[in-house]
Amino acid sequence: MSDIKPDTKQKFYLTTPIYYVNARPHIGHAYTTIAADVIARRQRLLLGSENVWFLTGTDEHGQKIERSASAAGIPPQQFADQISAQFEGLWKRMGITNDQYIRTTDPDHVRGVQRLFSQLYERGHIYLDSYTGQYSVGEEMFIDGPPGTIGPDGKPTETVTEENFYFRLSDFQGRIIDLMVLSFLRGNLVGAAGMMSVGDPGTLEQGLTFAEVNEGLLRGKLKRSNAGFLYVPGALKDLSISRSSFDWGIPVPEPAASTSKEKHVIYVWLDALANYMTAVGYGSDKPEDRAKLAKFWPADLHLVGKEIIRFHCIYWPAFLLAADLPLPKKVQAHGWLLFEESKMSKSRGNIVRTETILDAFGSLKPEASKTEQDLFGADVLRYFLLREIPFGQDGSFSFDALVQRYNSDLANGYGNLVSRTLSMIQQNSGGLIPTEDLIGIEPEDDWTPELTELAWRANSIAGDFNPTHDGLFLPLEEAWNKAAFNDGLWLILSVVGRLDLFLTETAPWKIAKSEGPSTRRRLSTILYTAAESIRIITALLYPILPHSTAKVWAQLGLGDIEAAAKNGDLKNLEWGGLKPGTKLGPLSPIFPRADKGLIQIMTDMEQDGAPQAPLKEASTPTPAAAVPDDSTHPGAPPRTSTLSEENPGAQVGGAAAPGPDLVRTPPHTEALASGPFVASAAASTTPDTPQIAIDDFVKIDLRVAKIIVAERIPKADKLLRLEVDLGYEKRQILSGIAEWYTPEELIGRRIVVIANLAPRKMRGLESHGMLLAASNGDNGKPILATFADSEDIELGSRLK
Ligand code: MSP
Repeated sequence: MSDIKPDTKQKFYLTTPIYYVNARPHIGHAYTTIAADVIARRQRLLLGSENVWFLTGTDEHGQKIERSASAAGIPPQQFADQISAQFEGLWKRMGITNDQYIRTTDPDHVRGVQRLFSQLYERGHIYLDSYTGQYSVGEEMFIDGPPGTIGPDGKPTETVTEENFYFRLSDFQGRIIDLMVLSFLRGNLVGAAGMMSVGDPGTLEQGLTFAEVNEGLLRGKLKRSNAGFLYVPGALKDLSISRSSFDWGIPVPEPAASTSKEKHVIYVWLDALANYMTAVGYGSDKPEDRAKLAKFWPADLHLVGKEIIRFHCIYWPAFLLAADLPLPKKVQAHGWLLFEESKMSKSRGNIVRTETILDAFGSLKPEASKTEQDLFGADVLRYFLLREIPFGQDGSFSFDALVQRYNSDLANGYGNLVSRTLSMIQQNSGGLIPTEDLIGIEPEDDWTPELTELAWRANSIAGDFNPTHDGLFLPLEEAWNKAAFNDGLWLILSVVGRLDLFLTETAPWKIAKSEGPSTRRRLSTILYTAAESIRIITALLYPILPHSTAKVWAQLGLGDIEAAAKNGDLKNLEWGGLKPGTKLGPLSPIFPRADKGLIQIMTDMEQDGAPQAPLKEASTPTPAAAVPDDSTHPGAPPRTSTLSEENPGAQVGGAAAPGPDLVRTPPHTEALASGPFVASAAASTTPDTPQIAIDDFVKIDLRVAKIIVAERIPKADKLLRLEVDLGYEKRQILSGIAEWYTPEELIGRRIVVIANLAPRKMRGLESHGMLLAASNGDNGKPILATFADSEDIELGSRLK
């Protein structure tokens, strides 16, 4: 497929990462998708919608997904179908305008990935070898380090020995270095050093003397890339691009497949990255697909979160170079949304659902339809995320900041300006846009400088936005081009602020009370100025606030904003575009004020209906953070034992007090180490049980879970298969309690689970976690640690 001939017409192809389907979407995913939607909308204004392609979708293969599906007790395809539908459904609810939604289980994609693999294989970039290494399942990657190394996802790696297909990534080290922006920034260093070497052979290059550099180059320990950058060959290792220990993936195609003993599936990242090309036709021989590929590939922008830069800036270009395919023009990474100071993620359990924000802000518009409410809520989230956080940096999310920013910028700022202006036009100008009539208004009139300044400001911001304009003083277009959304919004909001001040200073409501032609002229000029500024501001805000600006546009009497977007009216931002005499549409408030109660409502919504750990319980990223700081609840010493498989009674503590006790008085970890409860802890510990430090205790992630399925396992008398709901995810656990508990009496019970126990297979089934129970004596019936029905405790809450 090296014969892709790029179409020379201007086009814009942008992508989001395809999201894993191991967990449902949260606002971290929405963040990237929103940013991409804003860019896509703006590009459509500039290039026409037929020349823009906006792709998003889901990443559905790999061990992580296979395990999540097995924990949920359903086949991976069904599991992927369910979660993928949640992502797609949410994007629809939010009015996201993706042109395509790709799933890596789509047959076209599967065929394209196999084609790419074959291309690489045929060109000699793939070989078969055996490898033992540490694999992080959470991140789907091999990691350097000893067994049990903690992977980037905070979980221990697993030792994996596999015969694998390898991609000769190391061959591309020099070329990738040359591609990296970072290297370009370092470029003059090398050049400068080279020049200096003439007169000063001892000058350092990258901390080495020239003698050392020369020696290194001679011995092959150092190399230079084509662009002259020095590097250590081998620092970039070959990459394993297949797995044989599980089969949820795209099979390695022939002829490579028959060279290996085992059946292999293609590494999930090769599979996933290829989506950017398969989506636009790579792998298909149909003429229309080839035309589409020629039109849109290479991608203009891959928008990603910063944690996946390596995959997009090293692996992806290397695969493409190896297959002789054109490289994407730009990869842009943004920072992370943090919640309570750590990255919002499913595994940390500190996620905020987008639905909460849609529902809560939607409730500010009780008269609107559900769809309208959702789109309004989506606008609020779009504005907040892009205004609040400099794109590229991490940013903390809080409901408090969301409500504050909404009130200050949208309800009191833009929204208030619109309603003030339009209602004055309604009252004083019969609902028709008045004429800007400067005749008879003296330049020394005390408000004319402001008027001129305002018109100039609005016009010049807009002018810069308009690509045909020479550009005046504000680099709005530059801000948009760099995806510096917060800067762009700041600029637009500065015009809102200026207009607000202008209205306060000129006080048209006072002028309206006096009579006379010159007063009428003043009034209509002021109102026209305000309305025309609003038109320009609204056109500029459209990509960020598509739903709300549509309302303003209609109220200004300008009709359908989507039609205006298509026919170029939103690009007409020259002052004077608003025609006097235009009849306003029906007026109604666009951004009702949100009171503080909404913060509580959203917090409660996350805690009540939340399918993840409650926000307050959020993540414990470091052991130190897990130490409870509330010393007023010293609790009973741990008298629990863990129950699993066929050894249910394995006893850690002494005589057991069952369940509820555990909840009301959770073991206070500081007390365990030093407080008054040391004695009782020691008393209930068998003499040969070593004491542990707090750091040991906090490694155990104990969570509240509910048993939702319990069933016997054929031919395993002691085992029950349970499915438990941890709030943030559902899991399968096998437990050796079949002799003591019937499935019926377990369903619905809220119990305690060791959540971070590595999964393992028993009787061919995966068990992920253990239940806590206590026994009377060595062989007594294990009593499950349980919460009384009256106890109000959310699923997923951590015991500490
Ligand atoms: N499936 C891979 C991507 C393959 S692309 C060829 C993957 N999926 S993911 O579900 O983990 O999504 C990661 C992306 O979601 C991030 O790169 C980012 O775009 C977005 N985010 C997920 N959590 C986020 C935050 N807490 N903050 C900001 N963005 C977040 O990686």
